[in-house]
Amino acid sequence: MTKQIKTSWESSASWYDEVVGQQGHYYHEHVILPKLLELMQLKKGAKILDLACGQGILARALPKNIKYMGVDLSKTLIRAAKVRTKNPLHTFLSHDVTKKLPFSKGEFSHAAVLLALQNIEDPMSLLKNAYYHLADGGVLFLVLNHPCFRIPRQSHWGIDEKKKLQYRRMDSYLSPQKIPIQTHPGKKKGQTLSFHYSLSKYSQMLKETGFAIFQIEEWISDKKSMGGKARMENRARHEFPLFLTLVCQKT
Ligand SMILES: C[S@@+](CC[C@H](N)C(=O)[O-])C[C@H]1O[C@@H](n2cnc3c(N)ncnc32)[C@H](O)[C@@H]1O
Repeated sequence: MTKQIKTSWESSASWYDEVVGQQGHYYHEHVILPKLLELMQLKKGAKILDLACGQGILARALPKNIKYMGVDLSKTLIRAAKVRTKNPLHTFLSHDVTKKLPFSKGEFSHAAVLLALQNIEDPMSLLKNAYYHLADGGVLFLVLNHPCFRIPRQSHWGIDEKKKLQYRRMDSYLSPQKIPIQTHPGKKKGQTLSFHYSLSKYSQMLKETGFAIFQIEEWISDKKSMGGKARMENRARHEFPLFLTLVCQKT
């Protein structure tokens, strides 16, 4: 078994398929997909490569006339994607996105990696694949859990009673990290890995691959708190973005 195989979500696939469902989990549906589609500005003729596509949530959010190829290491998630997504322009493949992919050079106008780059042990190989299979001027969309504010086990909420503020505490940031995560606590199965890199490290990887970052978006949660702590929680929600989206162009 190669090192990368361990990052597959195969052991959490049924759970993840249930959590995401047909429309996506809460943040897919309310934040990520609407904002991403607005950024993508897809026109007829576009062809999308979705790397680490899970059970194909992006495919189902696309306009019906857009060609789409989704790739994921988990066979169960790819099977779920095929069952859930009934568009003849959509294709799914079970494959490691850090290995050579069976597509042509420059075949795609857009590539996307949704909430998955931080689950890949070797992100440079994924980025090189995206670069190779994008047409000249093609655009790559990376949606990440914001690496400056959300690092598993290293970021926490706290309350400053004097200032009546909810604050974000970061216990580390610049050091790369490999963090095991229990996807459904209480059950034996279902561990995934999260890999943390700083923003400057991502920018360096993209530059080395040949991508230029031309837009950075930071997306907040649209949830609203009620009750005694509502004011501080709502303020904190507006100050600390959940997601970082990097829009990158093949140069
Ligand atoms: C958090 S899920 C995100 C899936 C999907 N993009 C979404 O937004 O629902 C991360 C995915 O990365 C996939 N993955 C991890 N390592 C991979 C690799 N080397 N090649 C392909 N897929 C991989 C996992 O199997 C899992 O489906």
